Amino acid sequence: MDKILVLDFGGQYDQLIARRVREQHVYAHIRAYNRITTEEICREGYSGIIFTGGPNSVYREDSPHFSPGILKAGIPVLGICYGMQLITWMENGTVSSAENSSEYGRTVLHVKDNVLLKDVPEESVCWMSHTDFVSQPPKGFKVIASTDKCPVAAMADDARKIYGVQFHPEVNHTEYGKQIIHNFLFEVCGCHPDWNTSDFIDRSVEKYREELAGKKVLLGLSGGVDSSVTAVLLQKAIGNDLICVFVDHGLLRKDEGDLVEKIFRNNFGLNLIRVNAKDRFLQKLAGVKDPETKRKIIGEEFIKVFEEEARKLGKIDALAQGTIYPDVVESGKGESAVIKSHHNVGGLPEHMMFEQIVEPLRDLFKDEVREAGLQLGIPAQLIYRQPFPGPGLAVRVLGEITEEKLDMLREADAIFREELESGNATDMADQYFAVLTDQHAVGVMGDARTYGYVLALRSVSTDDFMTAEWSRLPYEILARSSSRIINEVKGISRVVYDITSKPPGTVEWE
Ligand code: XMP
Repeated sequence: MDKILVLDFGGQYDQLIARRVREQHVYAHIRAYNRITTEEICREGYSGIIFTGGPNSVYREDSPHFSPGILKAGIPVLGICYGMQLITWMENGTVSSAENSSEYGRTVLHVKDNVLLKDVPEESVCWMSHTDFVSQPPKGFKVIASTDKCPVAAMADDARKIYGVQFHPEVNHTEYGKQIIHNFLFEVCGCHPDWNTSDFIDRSVEKYREELAGKKVLLGLSGGVDSSVTAVLLQKAIGNDLICVFVDHGLLRKDEGDLVEKIFRNNFGLNLIRVNAKDRFLQKLAGVKDPETKRKIIGEEFIKVFEEEARKLGKIDALAQGTIYPDVVESGKGESAVIKSHHNVGGLPEHMMFEQIVEPLRDLFKDEVREAGLQLGIPAQLIYRQPFPGPGLAVRVLGEITEEKLDMLREADAIFREELESGNATDMADQYFAVLTDQHAVGVMGDARTYGYVLALRSVSTDDFMTAEWSRLPYEILARSSSRIINEVKGISRVVYDITSKPPGTVEWE
């Protein structure tokens, strides 16, 4: 399988570049510039290297540099932004600073005829974000694109297959960015488009069938996408030697525990142990109001339950985890950035170390995990499930948690989700749920005065959950949800809709 190295110099788009390559069915691997040597790169047999951007100026002593030997290794290179300036610096060209005229945003790009720019029209829009720029390309390089402000927007040494672009082909705003990456992969590096999910599944199943033969493997299944895909993939490899433990802490949404059990035990025939630990969790949480204390209690109790179950099973050879690529990818953003150790991701204690950790998805991005899940036959309903916090409804019942309050919230939440989904509003809502506040309000039903809880409805649209906009849901959906909740859920007397975006608000209320 051909593979591309994305050499990260601390830019913000390293993962995006790797995804863009993988979208074209070529495997891409990200390595930090200071954690790999030229020798190692040559040994790995990469078909090409992409230097990422980075926030520094090449002339600063503390800015990321790399051995110039890399450009003599005979491997095609594409430098993006800082990556292009670095090539220029390594090869004795001139990088200048445009301190008073940084170029930022959409810019018109003029291109010349070159293999890297094949099928890119003479004039198109690209995305620029730089202060420094290449004023004199190194010897052997020719200018193949320019903008009004940037005389060398792209440069090429076709003989050595070394290229640089000042703009960012990986972002969507660059109209022909995909085409340029395509040209680099297939025209310059001669890659074959042989990275795809079904081959990945076949390869993994074969690998783990051999590697784990005769071993017992334990997996904590939450019903979330990553652990679900891990479970089904490993079951294909080792069948019942994979033992899945599903800890039901009683803080799941309506019918959720049963759904997870039904899908994985009945449909997939998974060797599944469901631990109904609701009472234990509720006892520990009794009287606790502080959200961080709730989270801590739930985390600790979760480990205890999981540990007890593991002990009952006798000798377990390996622990499987749903770690995915963004969890483990190393970063070139400074010396302090170390590879995250995601062993025992759930925060399992030292004494629970297993001889072997199995992480079948650690090379996949989230969208690739979803694709693998669908190909493995996991229902779309589960694969595209909205995120749900580990501490579950404990952080959506504000204040003290009781079974009665949890039941009220579960019913109201199910009604809201049902109305939003049947009202076809899911494309404006990436996460939507109800929150039971600790506040009471007066109401009137029939002739009687009521004094029940205030329930909040929350719906947000977001790309990454770091920022979020509250959803402009149709009034009809809000009206039906409110009316049904007041009528059908005893104990709630008022429904409000949360119109706070993030920031300044957060998605959850606690
Ligand atoms: P916030 O509330 O921080 O939420 O804006 C952002 C995303 O993270 C989820 N979330 C959690 N997930 N454990 C989790 O596993 C937690 O304690 C937790 N708190 C928030 C939240 O649902 C949203 O998707």
